[in-house]
Amino acid sequence: MYASTVLATLLGASTVFAAPTWPQLNPGLINTVGRDVLSDYFNLLAQKIDIAKLAALAPSCDLSKAKMPTVSTQPLPTPATGLAVKHVAIGRGTQNYTCGADATAAPTAAGAVATLFDASCVAAAYPDLLHLLPKLALQFDLPYSAETNAKMGPTNLLVSGKHFFTNATTPFFNLDTPRRSIGEAPCSKLNATNAPSDAPKGRQGEAAVPWLRLSANPDATGGIHEVFRVETAGGSAPATCAGQSASFQVQYAAEYWFFASS
Ligand SMILES: *[C@@H]1O[C@H](CO)[C@@H](O)[C@H](O)[C@H]1NC(C)=O
Ligand SMILES: *[C@@H]1O[C@H](CO)[C@@H](O)[C@H](O)[C@H]1NC(C)=O
Ligand SMILES: *[C@@H]1O[C@H](CO)[C@@H](O)[C@H](O)[C@H]1NC(C)=O
Repeated sequence: MYASTVLATLLGASTVFAAPTWPQLNPGLINTVGRDVLSDYFNLLAQKIDIAKLAALAPSCDLSKAKMPTVSTQPLPTPATGLAVKHVAIGRGTQNYTCGADATAAPTAAGAVATLFDASCVAAAYPDLLHLLPKLALQFDLPYSAETNAKMGPTNLLVSGKHFFTNATTPFFNLDTPRRSIGEAPCSKLNATNAPSDAPKGRQGEAAVPWLRLSANPDATGGIHEVFRVETAGGSAPATCAGQSASFQVQYAAEYWFFASS
């Protein structure tokens, strides 16, 4: 297969000239922040396709070449020795929060729900395009998690799993789908650091949620030991509970990097 075909298949170049049918691009957002995000993405994609047309070789999906981004201020600790990247996903969903009667109090984090889209090949071959995906994903309305044939925005990235919480302190990743069995990982939070100051803001202009390092619990499958949330877009709670309901959601997107014993 020609490199340009592989790229188009992965990243949805076929939709450059046709409106994506699913999920819906949010027209309100497109009139504001969305236009630049979309044109950045499609310009970069078009450049890659031009280069790929000259190269007969298909891009490599070898994850040993994928390099997880870091922040310069207080970077997260690196994954434990002996672990290698097993999967990279774009997560698109909501961060959940709760509020009590005190309108001056800060909202309390109450888990998250996200659909995970397989971005491993993009991570291996086109890291610059990968890092635009969380911001891009946020311009499209939330995918329905029941849609296992769903694609992410204008890309052809397929669902690789789901992210949710099994209790207040246990983020869970289910990466077993009819298409691929990658593993399941109940996790505990190890480390957190602020997203970079220029990280993409969310739909209400809120800051990007922190970057995280999670440890997979011993009953994880597929050899998964650590999970990182990086390149976050949006998702932070408002400063106080003023005007908020008892429970509310803030939309976000992020890259999730899964590390397994090699
Ligand atoms: C978070 O909100 C979603 C709605 O977006 C809901 O389906 C889910 O059950 C909530 N999860 C938690 C842990 O509260
Ligand atoms: C949450 O679930 C984990 C893993 O099943 C368990 O170890 C922990 O005790 C639970 N915590 C609470 C507060 O229920
Ligand atoms: C990361 O978390 C681990 C476990 O809680 C802790 O021992 C370590 O000091 C933390 N590292 C940093 C840099 O915060």
